[in-house]
Amino acid sequence: MADAVVDTVASVPVAVIGAGPAGLMLAHRLARAGVETVVVDTRTRREIETTQRAGILEADAARDLVETGVSDRILRDGHEHEGTELRFGGRAHRVHFKALVGASVWLYPQTDVFIDLADARERDGGTVHFGVKDTEVLDVTTGAPRVRYTAADGTRHEIRARYVVGADGSRSMCRDLVPEDRRVRYGKEYPFAWFGILAEAPPSASELVYAHSEHGFALISRRTETVQRMYFQCSPGESVDAWPDDRVWETLQARVAGEDGFRLNEGPVLDKTVLRFRSFVQEPMRWGSMVLAGDAAHTVPPTGARGLNLALHDVKILAEVLPRALGAAGEAALDDYQPRAMRRVWRAQNFSHWMTGLLHTAPGDSPFDLRRRLGELDNVVATRAGRAYLAEQYTGWPVDSQG
Ligand code: DHB
Repeated sequence: MADAVVDTVASVPVAVIGAGPAGLMLAHRLARAGVETVVVDTRTRREIETTQRAGILEADAARDLVETGVSDRILRDGHEHEGTELRFGGRAHRVHFKALVGASVWLYPQTDVFIDLADARERDGGTVHFGVKDTEVLDVTTGAPRVRYTAADGTRHEIRARYVVGADGSRSMCRDLVPEDRRVRYGKEYPFAWFGILAEAPPSASELVYAHSEHGFALISRRTETVQRMYFQCSPGESVDAWPDDRVWETLQARVAGEDGFRLNEGPVLDKTVLRFRSFVQEPMRWGSMVLAGDAAHTVPPTGARGLNLALHDVKILAEVLPRALGAAGEAALDDYQPRAMRRVWRAQNFSHWMTGLLHTAPGDSPFDLRRRLGELDNVVATRAGRAYLAEQYTGWPVDSQG
């Protein structure tokens, strides 16, 4: 393929593989710094827009969307949440982020973040090619990497860049370009997955509800005033076909049931998906002229909704170091990237793993395991330090936080 004839050749300082939030936010930030990009993605815009993803943004990330001029739609369509509810032992326990650590989060679905970013690229004249095929990234160990792809209309194109950013998600092909003997992959698989639904019914609660019961985990979130987003722990091999609506509701109601009589508002289930559940990190985040960002370099399990926030943090750093690397500082400016990004990555890995263990049950858990977990949950909600820990981790850390 590498020597095949191409229809066009274009030069650009930075080529970005992946038009998810990481790739598009990076393109947006670089454009503001006067650096042009070309972004390619194998998915169509419609495919990305209709894939359900997580829904929580840290306040800093929400503010960045507005202040960098992506869009202020989050202020109208998003919801600021000053706390969350943990439910276990049949009772509700509120963790008041604002009172505990002075921070809040925004409920604003990732698909809306994507729509705002894609619209902003279009508005600002940025180049994004959706629905491409046969993407190849070549010569990353040289100072002149190239990207080749087949456009949706079948034509072949080459982009000559100085740097390539692999923002191509949890099934990244860019990360495979780091040779096996030069990379380290850290990972953990879990003995469960999440069953995610969209249901047409008004919200069941004003804030998110993270529920633990002896039957397992459930999360109650929402998308709009008439559509709820909910998840429950299931086995990794689960098939959506085995889950008629009645069974979904019975399962969810059992996981949130309690002495307070709390019930979920039921309605037609519009979408059912089984979500993959894993922890993953690859190092290094840079190989020659290529850097990895977001899920391509690290994946967290969804509990605590850190993934999108981590990706946005990576590109905030990249948008600072890439213009320097293109200028007088040269490649050495990229040396900062991995240490600055990875500190937060491992903090988030720990938090996502901890919150997962706190709220899920694992097959084979002994009666001791189940009672110990209730003790841990009690420690979290019944002590100020426990609540503050959850609040601080959930709302995120200051950018590049050393504290
Ligand atoms: C949502 C998803 C999460 O993983 C989470 O922790 C909170 C909210 C959501 O999709 O709304």
